Amino acid sequence: MKGPIAIFDSGYGGLTILDSIRRELPEYDYIYLGDNARTPYGSRSFDVVYEYTLEAVKRLFSLGAHLVILACNTASAKALRSIQQKDLPGIDPERRVLGVIRPSVEVVGNLTKTNHVGVLGTVGTVLSNSYPLEIDKVSPEIIVEQEACPMWVSLVENSEFDGDGADYFVKKNINSLFERDSKIDTLILGCTHYPLLLEKIRKYTPQGVKIISQGEIVSKRLRDYLFRHPEMETKCSKGGDVRFYTTEHPDKFRETAGIFFKGNIRVQHLEL
Ligand code: DGL
Repeated sequence: MKGPIAIFDSGYGGLTILDSIRRELPEYDYIYLGDNARTPYGSRSFDVVYEYTLEAVKRLFSLGAHLVILACNTASAKALRSIQQKDLPGIDPERRVLGVIRPSVEVVGNLTKTNHVGVLGTVGTVLSNSYPLEIDKVSPEIIVEQEACPMWVSLVENSEFDGDGADYFVKKNINSLFERDSKIDTLILGCTHYPLLLEKIRKYTPQGVKIISQGEIVSKRLRDYLFRHPEMETKCSKGGDVRFYTTEHPDKFRETAGIFFKGNIRVQHLEL
């Protein structure tokens, strides 16, 4: 039976990815799951992020999805490989789980001129070293400097992304990154929550530095993936429908999600 494409994040950040994907591929049906009751994932251990992500993936499969996108860098960094290699063959070898790190890494080589790239991410993503390791595989000449931004996800989750507190923390982390490497000319927003802070990130980033948000990259890669995998494409239902699930209270989700996702938000509570 055909099913929707599922998008998963620890909270609201993945909505930035869903938004881009729906613009690129409006014909498909989507379900979105935010594990808002357990967010943020960024400060949690490898084992916990893996366990939470696996629970979410299994649940999304049971809701009919054949394809799950982990629209979360932390989950992509800490859980994706284990799920793909260890769990999927036992759950259902025909289903697929994709992440957001690899597609982002593949574009940096074409963008940087100085071969110095900055990555902003959660503590978990930075400590996993996923970005430096993955970039090294495709563009070994690139020097990667990372900055963990532990407060940024909370600013977004608490709708404080345009407040003065956000200015303080964005400036602090960006300055710290560019003090360590002033040659950076390309900056990856390695957390799907960060596009919500884009205005402030631009304000404190040196002029001329390219800022990469993942929405557009991931949605183009998904289009490409579906084209190259007709066996998966035919399992994705088409109706232009989108449904939301949250582990938090639906009213809270609707209110906050409405800030950065335009359109009708039909949301249900889901226990993981
Ligand atoms: N959107 C998630 C990411 O891309 C945020 C992680 C968190 O919950 O801390 O990493």
